Amino acid sequence: MRERYFIVTYGCQMNVHESEKIAGLLRAAGYESADSQENADLIVFNTCCVRENAENHAFGNIGALKKLKKQKKNLIIAVGGCMTQEKGKAETLKEKFPFIDVIFGTLNLEELPALIQKKREEKKRVIKICEKEGEIVEDVKPFRTSFPNAWVNIAYGCNNFCSYCIVPYVRGRERSRKEENILAEIRLLVEQGYKEITLLGQNVNSYGNDLKDGSSFARLLDKAASIEGKFRLRFMTSHPKDFNADVVEVMKKHPKICRLVHLPVQSGSNEILRRMNRRYTAEEYLNKIQMLKSAIPQAEVTTDIIVGFPGETEEDYLQTEELVKKADFASAFTFVYSKRSGTKAAEMPDQVPEDVSKNRIMRLVELVNTLTRKKSETYVGKTVEILCEDYDEKKKAYLGRDEFGRMAYFPYPKNVVGRFVRVNVLTANGISLFGEVAEVED
Ligand code: SAH
Ligand code: SF4
Ligand code: F3S
Repeated sequence: MRERYFIVTYGCQMNVHESEKIAGLLRAAGYESADSQENADLIVFNTCCVRENAENHAFGNIGALKKLKKQKKNLIIAVGGCMTQEKGKAETLKEKFPFIDVIFGTLNLEELPALIQKKREEKKRVIKICEKEGEIVEDVKPFRTSFPNAWVNIAYGCNNFCSYCIVPYVRGRERSRKEENILAEIRLLVEQGYKEITLLGQNVNSYGNDLKDGSSFARLLDKAASIEGKFRLRFMTSHPKDFNADVVEVMKKHPKICRLVHLPVQSGSNEILRRMNRRYTAEEYLNKIQMLKSAIPQAEVTTDIIVGFPGETEEDYLQTEELVKKADFASAFTFVYSKRSGTKAAEMPDQVPEDVSKNRIMRLVELVNTLTRKKSETYVGKTVEILCEDYDEKKKAYLGRDEFGRMAYFPYPKNVVGRFVRVNVLTANGISLFGEVAEVED
């Protein structure tokens, strides 16, 4: 019988996709997937360290495996992802959890099957983290589990060093994949019937800068959207300092490109933005939105916001509220600043007390919810095009998203997963919509 794997994933879309790559590697090495941790012979944790609670989560769940490991002597536990790349963390994991068998990093993920093999043969724990990013490995075939959606990496790593952020330390410098490899992957996905393709990078707008062969994100996007077939194209994340008119022009030219830009603002205070090393002002940020919306009036923007950055005063916080009111976001992810050791911000004086940050995040969430709810209500009575993703047993309805990422539920007698469906919106409930099918497209 084949050995079975179970992967536990934390963190961003990049990590979710990397878990698909880990699954692909394991399947190529003869494993098959297990339906639960209890039924697995190999459990892989793909960790995140962007905020402390992501780490605590992983620590808790790894710790909880001690019992299972005692019952099942042959169970292999492997830990990878961003946390293992953090300075000193692999050591901490090793000491805290003597039952972990393999520790690997984000920069050598393709080695996992070989590291497991080594552990089996030598009967010793295997720990291998690479400090330095090597060549991009192109031949890892992901095992995708999100049909009709597919993710495609366009670049790895980040050069921006926002002062609060640990990503550049754990993911290395920015490396772009070659345009021809990305386009070949997209073409194949479209042939296989995938209907929504999301291009992934920490800062997609700086794609190609390191290749020095004329590659640019605008050119890549133009070529990707010129691929034949009905599908949607998305991209994330855009850094406001690099998001420019050339990309907007391409978006305007191709109906395949979703008119949605995820443009993390982080703060509405220029002083905080300066100390975050974001390299734009609140005014410049709002001008970028203006530039987008004057070219494409229906375009929408989503964002990320941090409250409680070191030195953030009530006045700074209120400027964030002001910006949120002006920016007309479709939705916003809000975070309490989390101190990450090794980053510039961790050394800054005036760390904001927890109760102050908590109070600010509550107020901000309230504001964001009110605004997004209002936006949802404007959908009632309209017809939207939904790409059906799944069936919800509890709601007895299919679900999917419109081009702006808004979730809609609708009943239908036949399976329409993977198809575009026109839905008349009857009600809006907070952030999701509910409606009836007007037409199923082919
Ligand atoms: N490259 C992307 C994603 C980075 S991580 C970008 O530039 O937006 C996703 C979000 O996590 C960030 O936008 C930021 O809002 C948040 N984040 C990053 N580091 C954080 C920290 N130390 N504390 C709280 N939130 C953080
Ligand atoms: Fe982190 Fe900034 Fe890079 Fe995004 S752009 S990954 S927030 S350093
Ligand atoms: Fe993503 Fe977390 Fe790493 S947000 S890049 S998995 S630190």
